[in-house]
Amino acid sequence: MTHAPVLPDGWTLVALDSVGSTNDEAARLADGGAAEGTVVWAREQVGGRGRRGRSWASPVGNLYSSTILRPECAAPRAAELGFVAALAVGDLVPAGRAVRLKWPNDVLVDGGKVAGILLESAIGQDGRVEHVVAGIGVNVTFAPQLPEMRYPGAKLGGTVEVALEGLTRALATRLAEWRRDGFEVIREAWLAKAGPLGADVDVRLGEELVRGRFAGLDREGALLLETPTGPRKIVSGELLGRAA
Ligand code: BTN
Repeated sequence: MTHAPVLPDGWTLVALDSVGSTNDEAARLADGGAAEGTVVWAREQVGGRGRRGRSWASPVGNLYSSTILRPECAAPRAAELGFVAALAVGDLVPAGRAVRLKWPNDVLVDGGKVAGILLESAIGQDGRVEHVVAGIGVNVTFAPQLPEMRYPGAKLGGTVEVALEGLTRALATRLAEWRRDGFEVIREAWLAKAGPLGADVDVRLGEELVRGRFAGLDREGALLLETPTGPRKIVSGELLGRAA
């Protein structure tokens, strides 16, 4: 049976039947002054967006939510929140299912992609973050399988309402951890759920394909690789489907 989702104390739910993209709606509310913890949730999106200009199929049945965050940090640190969000999604997964986090912020369950995270920031003229919209789509009742997907799809199971409650609770907890303990603790937690060090990885950087071995995550969230030509640090790129 469905019920109205209960959010963490102080958080506010904006529930919609249908919207273009919850990220756009959340950004509009943030520009108007909406507080951290404002969550835009839609039953469906007709213009759901993924990373790198892709679309995100968003019919009724899965979770589409965007949370306004006000991290009060300098712009380069906003990317840390992608790791916070990925850990929060991982926290949702029931014990007994294998969670693997993939750089920068994909979440795989039993080898399939269960969620997508699209972080969008507004930066002030002083170089500080005005807000971040953490857009998170979770496959709950079905797993889309699209030809352009780098991983097969996986689903969480249960209901969208329960997933939204769990996600916002986990996000509030991980966010508090980030504020209290800093990125180092988040980085270690993320690494504990990432692929093994030394695993083969391929990363696409525009036209370039970099092949190497996974060597960790640096203190800014960049991917570290050992390649045949020496160590490389990848700030922005797309991990392709080999081991890590
Ligand atoms: C990805 O490409 O993996 C990121 C997908 C992000 C999808 C979510 S669904 C809720 C929010 N609204 C959007 O338009 N996109 C994000």
